[in-house]
Amino acid sequence: MTPLKIVLTGATGGIGSAMALAFAQAGHSLVLLGRNSDGLEALRNSLDQPERHQIMRADLSSAEAIISLAADLVDAGGIDVLVNNAGVSDFGLLTDLHDDELEQMLRLNLLAPMRLCRGLLPLLCASANACIINIGSSFGSIGYAGFSIYCASKFGLRGFTEALQRELADQEIAVHYLAPRAVRTKMNPPAVVAMNAELGNSEDEPATVALAALGLLIERQSCSRYLGWPEKLFVRLNGVFPRVVANALKNQLPIIKRYAKQQRETRSL
Ligand SMILES: NC(=O)c1ccc[n+]([C@@H]2O[C@H](COP(=O)([O-])OP(=O)(O)OC[C@H]3O[C@@H](n4cnc5c(N)ncnc54)[C@H](OP(=O)(O)O)[C@@H]3O)[C@@H](O)[C@H]2O)c1
Repeated sequence: MTPLKIVLTGATGGIGSAMALAFAQAGHSLVLLGRNSDGLEALRNSLDQPERHQIMRADLSSAEAIISLAADLVDAGGIDVLVNNAGVSDFGLLTDLHDDELEQMLRLNLLAPMRLCRGLLPLLCASANACIINIGSSFGSIGYAGFSIYCASKFGLRGFTEALQRELADQEIAVHYLAPRAVRTKMNPPAVVAMNAELGNSEDEPATVALAALGLLIERQSCSRYLGWPEKLFVRLNGVFPRVVANALKNQLPIIKRYAKQQRETRSL
């Protein structure tokens, strides 16, 4: 496939670094974005032909930082692909979440991809292989106790992606939504890992998500992909029979509340 220039947010994270590895191995050039210069440098040096890849530091929760990043990317030349992957998740009951956590989740998971898409669209549309991949979640389709704000951010991202797919349907750009289920990364604190184990929720390796993202680079038709079985069935079921899913999840509530309490105690230490 044609070598692409890919802007990847959250590059130093679990899923981000797996995608960086897979994209670089496939011969693509990367612009690795994150807040931590040492982490970005270490990641670049671990990739095939490090000199082909750039690193840029930006705190994507700031609108000003995104404007200046977009200007730097224009100066750095053309790009083909934007992968909106950076994200945060704070597990806890709504009443346990602080206002700054709530704002940070919405800024990073929802506003940042919107701002990056808007800022980079002119640059992307100049490419014959233009593509956007927004990394969502199965929690972008299923409201789950203990993740109300995270779910809101990912439901928002899914809606934004769908609208953008339709708004750009007459242009040569593919806009994809990729929704993993739980993945083994540092995003999930020990309480969430233990809760998933007790509930029998499977966790994927980051490489599984990276492989799916790699496959999307060659899809010229915009699409939405959900990873993991039975999660992708629950996504559809929740859309058609939400009450069935609500009843099943109600049985899990005592367990979720127990781990949310554990998480609250850990946070207040
Ligand atoms: N892990 C899961 O179970 C799971 C499941 C479904 C979907 N997802 C989604 O997958 C994506 C990646 O998650 P992950 O599991 O790989 O998480 P992760 O390992 O915690 O990595 C998160 C990445 O986001 C970056 N980031 C955090 N705050 C930032 C900020 N203010 N500005 C710029 N970058 C920032 C971090 O970079 P720094 O080095 O700057 O901190 C890090 O590279 C997220 O969108 C997440 O919602 C994850």
